[in-house]
Amino acid sequence: MQAKFVEDQIIKESYSAIERLRQRLLGVSPRYYIETYGCQMNEHDSEKIAGMLESVGYVPAVSKNDADLILFNTCCIRDHAEKRTFGNVGFVKELKQNNPALITAVCGCMMQQREVAKRLASRFPFVDLVFGTNELHIFPQMLEKVMDGGRVFEIKDIEGEIAEGLPIKRNEGFSTFVNIMYGCNNFCSYCIVPYVRGRERSRRAEDIVAEVRHVVEAEGFTEVTLLGQNVNSYDDNGIKFPELLRRVNEIEGLRRLRFMTSHPKDLSHELVMAMAECDKVCPHIHLPVQSGSNRILQLMNRRYTREHYLDLVKDLRENVQGIEITTDIIVGFPTETDEDLNDTLDLVRKVGYSAAYSFAYSVRPGTKAASMDGQIPEEIKKQRLALLNEVILESVNGANDKYIGTEDEILIEGVDTRGEPMLFGKLGCLKMVYVKGDESLIGTYHRARITGTRFNSLVGELMD
Ligand code: SAH
Ligand code: SF4
Ligand code: F3S
Repeated sequence: MQAKFVEDQIIKESYSAIERLRQRLLGVSPRYYIETYGCQMNEHDSEKIAGMLESVGYVPAVSKNDADLILFNTCCIRDHAEKRTFGNVGFVKELKQNNPALITAVCGCMMQQREVAKRLASRFPFVDLVFGTNELHIFPQMLEKVMDGGRVFEIKDIEGEIAEGLPIKRNEGFSTFVNIMYGCNNFCSYCIVPYVRGRERSRRAEDIVAEVRHVVEAEGFTEVTLLGQNVNSYDDNGIKFPELLRRVNEIEGLRRLRFMTSHPKDLSHELVMAMAECDKVCPHIHLPVQSGSNRILQLMNRRYTREHYLDLVKDLRENVQGIEITTDIIVGFPTETDEDLNDTLDLVRKVGYSAAYSFAYSVRPGTKAASMDGQIPEEIKKQRLALLNEVILESVNGANDKYIGTEDEILIEGVDTRGEPMLFGKLGCLKMVYVKGDESLIGTYHRARITGTRFNSLVGELMD
């Protein structure tokens, strides 16, 4: 789909609202606290909201207790995400009693479901501002209305536009996110994302390159993760994802380039070769398989077979040196039998993932799978999840031994002070490595020799 961009005029209005709020809050420095649920997409949206808040003069609060504004950025991918949010928003009531001026806002995927948002707004009358996933760029205008004493409930139908040029307050560290596309067209039958994030739309390649250059040159990040629900279908008027990777790979000062998530149906050999040939692209891919049973894959509307998936794994391993593969798997999808589960367990063993995120199928109202016959009882889902986790653990631990004796570069990210203090860092393939060393090394790249394993991580020593 041709991407639609929010008009410059509207972004200008957002900046005017930022300026008015800044004047209004001069000398006040109110504190904000953002609680984010869900995936990196939401985390990054929260960075954009933080960017707008800091532009008007807000400063981060240490906790909810000392905040003047609390914002919940919600997720609805599974049932328990929703339950947790209602619980935590309810808790704000007490804080509001102590600080009547406290502003409370709720946004994100769960709020994009208008019925749920209405339920939340009527259950919690103290919530001042509710908005969906399409209104991020008018946050300053909405905040202004709330400060004028209004209650704002703003959830547009999700058409899907791209807003460029908003301020972003990036989380500290060495690694940061850059959106390359928004939305999803895949309608996997279990998944709510296409309903709450709208259709796929790609940012302009030149805007992405400019943003990566900015975070590297002006903000000092050395590792960038390109974000999208399905990066393999990125398309900016004919510029496809492999070409985008090659362009970003050219940026001087960038050391590591990652991306997520990849849908197996759109993973081309061309992309595999771009990964192999771009020196900054890390040897890691998150390639959600969801199930190892062809019958279930078809019911899930994933549009690939286990054979195709295994061929992709082969292509990746043959061409991208040292690649590690991670995945997402759902058990207990409607009609899943023990035989289907065995196909999944078998596939996990065959691929040898370095990490796998496992989920019990959760009914999402409005999706196709929600009304399928053959829903699996919760008890059985739980048993299957436990079984899957055992197999994952075996497979992950088994895959660590091969690192012993190897040497490679790690980015040192921090210090672990549980027990004897150890620095920890990551290999390009995302494996965590613990080493002894001085804290002054945090943020730098070093070669390390791997000497052993520790749970599902590695232990090593720094080389000169
Ligand atoms: N766009 C990404 C991930 C989306 S959500 C992709 O397609 O890979 C992250 C993961 O949550 C999914 O990969 C899936 O494993 C899981 N998930 C999504 N909907 C779910 C549901 N209804 N029940 C359980 N797990 C679900
Ligand atoms: Fe959901 Fe499938 Fe889209 Fe991923 S690709 S966000 S699982 S619909
Ligand atoms: Fe992400 Fe949850 Fe939305 S997983 S896209 S925050 S529903």
